[in-house]
Amino acid sequence: MKAAQYQKYGGPEVIVINDNVAKPTPLKGQLLVEVFAASLNPIDWKVRAGYLKEKAPLKFPITIGGNFSGVIVLLGDGVTKFKIGDEVYGQAIVLNGGSGSLAEFLVSNEDNSAIKPKNASHIEAASLPLVGASAIQALEEHINLQKGQKILIHGGAGGIGSIAIQLAKSKGAYVATTVRGDDIEFVKKLGADEVVDYKKEKFEEKLSGYDGVYDTVGGDTTDRSFKVLKKGGVLVSMLGEPNQDLAKEYGVKVVGQSTQTNSKNLSRLAQLVDSGVIKPQVDKVFPLDQTRQAFEYMETGHPKGKVVISIKE
Ligand SMILES: NC(=O)c1ccc[n+]([C@@H]2O[C@H](COP(=O)([O-])OP(=O)(O)OC[C@H]3O[C@@H](n4cnc5c(N)ncnc54)[C@H](OP(=O)(O)O)[C@@H]3O)[C@@H](O)[C@H]2O)c1
Repeated sequence: MKAAQYQKYGGPEVIVINDNVAKPTPLKGQLLVEVFAASLNPIDWKVRAGYLKEKAPLKFPITIGGNFSGVIVLLGDGVTKFKIGDEVYGQAIVLNGGSGSLAEFLVSNEDNSAIKPKNASHIEAASLPLVGASAIQALEEHINLQKGQKILIHGGAGGIGSIAIQLAKSKGAYVATTVRGDDIEFVKKLGADEVVDYKKEKFEEKLSGYDGVYDTVGGDTTDRSFKVLKKGGVLVSMLGEPNQDLAKEYGVKVVGQSTQTNSKNLSRLAQLVDSGVIKPQVDKVFPLDQTRQAFEYMETGHPKGKVVISIKE
């Protein structure tokens, strides 16, 4: 089968399209899926760049990617929740025991898969698993966002941010977000009530008394976010553990989130898409043969929402 692979650690130049990759075999509790579409996430370039080299060394070549949408063609032993022919989506990154999603076929763990949203195409569904599960976990589990509360979402035009804005608005929250000037109209259309251009303004000088901050940016943005929160507020960061000393000083709760792309979060996500609460945000679609260009676009093109690879559509 055809797959996009990394030959070694490095930049986009280490990506190759390989026509002779063996079709993977589903182990116990896994699904074999014919892939219709896959999406790129920052974790995919971080893996390629060797950021996880020490913690999870790779045996090259490896098939790129995790997020997918497709159709089940074979079940491993012990699979109970699915049948052959089901349209599913999920996370099949090699780090999770999957076989990688930028391929004609993949294996995914049963618990990292769910029935895809019926109202979404495979391209749209493939854009969702990691970013959608992230937004759900942060807003519903950690922040427990309620009607009338105020939330600041950093990086509102990104993969996670563009879903988190929609979810927060659907709960009746007041939503502020930080983006570059080019993205202001995009996030207003998603429902943001207040937009701060992070290139021109300091969000901590404009916003205060917030119940929650959802940080998808990291760096000094995380520490500066404490000033925006009211006592008892919650700061969730996607980029490591926020500073506990500052949390004590400001009287707030902090969470360094590790997203679970499990069936529970994926099924909840599908329900939110099918009920019209969340609309997938696909910026650009590339064919599998142009995976290298797709990564270059994700890494330098400032996409609004997601970059997707079309494999069988
Ligand atoms: N911990 C976990 O389990 C987990 C799970 C998923 C993702 N993540 C991480 O979470 C981060 C966000 O993921 P994503 O998929 O949403 O990435 P993304 O699609 O690249 O979105 C990040 C957004 O932040 C914007 N941005 C950059 N600097 C900013 C700043 N100073 N202020 C406000 N916005 C800024 C970027 O836009 P411009 O650069 O165009 O302005 C981009 O729109 C990534 O680092 C990812 O690896 C962690």
